[in-house]
Amino acid sequence: MKVLVVDFGSQYTHLIARRVRELGVYSEIAHNQLTPEDIGKDVGAVILSGGPKSVYEENSPKLRPDTLKFLLERDIPILGICYGHQLLAAELGGEVRRGDSGEYGITILNVLKDDLIMAGTPKVQKVWMSHRDKVVTLPDGAVVIARTRYSEIAAFRYGDKVYGVQFHPEVKHTEYGREILSNFLFRVAGLEKSWSPEDLVSEKVKRIKDQYRGGNVLIAASGGVDSTTAAVLTLRALGPDVVHLVVVDTGLLRAGEAEKVVRDLKKLGFKHVHLVNASSIFLSRLRGVTDPEEKRRAIARTFFEIFTEYAKKLEEEYGKFRYLVQGTIYPDRIESGRAGVGSARIKSHHNVTLTEVLDLELIEPINDLYKDEVRRLARALGIPDEIVYKHPFPGPGLAVRIVGEITPEKLRIARKAHSIVEEELKKAGLYRELWQAFPVVLPVRSVGVMGDERTYEYVVALRVVVSEDAMTAEFAKLPWNVIERIATRIVNEIEGVNRVVYDITNKPPATIEYE
Ligand code: XMP
Repeated sequence: MKVLVVDFGSQYTHLIARRVRELGVYSEIAHNQLTPEDIGKDVGAVILSGGPKSVYEENSPKLRPDTLKFLLERDIPILGICYGHQLLAAELGGEVRRGDSGEYGITILNVLKDDLIMAGTPKVQKVWMSHRDKVVTLPDGAVVIARTRYSEIAAFRYGDKVYGVQFHPEVKHTEYGREILSNFLFRVAGLEKSWSPEDLVSEKVKRIKDQYRGGNVLIAASGGVDSTTAAVLTLRALGPDVVHLVVVDTGLLRAGEAEKVVRDLKKLGFKHVHLVNASSIFLSRLRGVTDPEEKRRAIARTFFEIFTEYAKKLEEEYGKFRYLVQGTIYPDRIESGRAGVGSARIKSHHNVTLTEVLDLELIEPINDLYKDEVRRLARALGIPDEIVYKHPFPGPGLAVRIVGEITPEKLRIARKAHSIVEEELKKAGLYRELWQAFPVVLPVRSVGVMGDERTYEYVVALRVVVSEDAMTAEFAKLPWNVIERIATRIVNEIEGVNRVVYDITNKPPATIEYE
């Protein structure tokens, strides 16, 4: 059985889906215009996400009436969160109004009634909220379960299976969020734990075998966990003879990276690993380019050209390619109405054109998984930890970590600084708990003094973030001594740098990368 998370545009929609999976139940995100036919027999519960609109606004998103009717008639448990809570109240006959005061951040929740959904949690607890609208009148027959200072109806139950909560149980700051979601899934909806990424290996392998009708398979490998996991699954399914990995050295990779990726992939049992050294073409196309979007476009275009040209050459030697395997993951695939992750944009750009130009069928073995699930699957496949826990590295590579024009000097600085950052964080045992950590070469020089001499050199920014999915991120509160060691080493060991600054901006408002 699975859970559908209906998306009303919240930035936390993915978080809800992931929390459900963490609790051991498979979940998928669904569009808010889903029809009764979209709700198959295997849907055991539905969660309505939050969203930025007001339910009383004219064009605010609502469930289709036939869908809501279907869910109620079938007694499918529903949990509305924030906007979902308000929508349920309004659609079932209650009233929602703009509150005199909003509640943003941590709020104290007073539980008024013993109810299954709050089982095992205290009468007074901290919850995380972000709303101004509130439910002021309940639908007939509904009962209030909890309140806060400004929300008299902060949680309610309608019948036995329909719940609304104004707060966000999916957000870590909600003290008992996990228990509340778990109560909904297991006590209210009566679901069973049945989802674990480790168990997926044989199913994924079988699915690739089923899709395969002969011919060669092409994979653009980056050495990251997503493409490596997709490739290893393909290798398990089809064997080493037909699987061709192409590693493109764009000249924008970290020190020694391309060669290392090739070595690592060969160790995993791949027979055909092709390294294409295209650095001089990429660098010449980037000469004089300073605009971030233009950089990305130039890189995407060049990658496409190089890759197709090389694939055609391989075909002459090995025979026709019929499939392209991509390590697209779930967040890349789902459109959530917000600005997508850059990787999704770049990857999708490649997908469409590569498959068309090379006449390939797409295989995406992990496109239903979140990053942490890919990592668990990767471990189950025996992929070494060094790859499993590698931080994401963007397709355009160092190009988006050098602000302004890319020059050989700045590339040298970026590479060396990258090695220092990674080395020190690994030594301090912090690397794995961080989402990403990298230096950024700024197009700014500042004055310094080194060995009694005045210097005028580049500034390097240190960007270190924690995140669950890159949609939002917080700067990492690293111990000062670690930051100090990194800064000291960068300035001492890299010629041309005399200052390091630590980036203390979250996303939003800043993005993780600089360009
Ligand atoms: P931002 O900078 O948008 O990044 O906060 C979110 C996540 O996406 C990665 N990223 C990219 N990945 N190609 C990629 O493959 C890209 O063009 C790209 N831009 C950003 C970034 O590293 C972060 O994990």
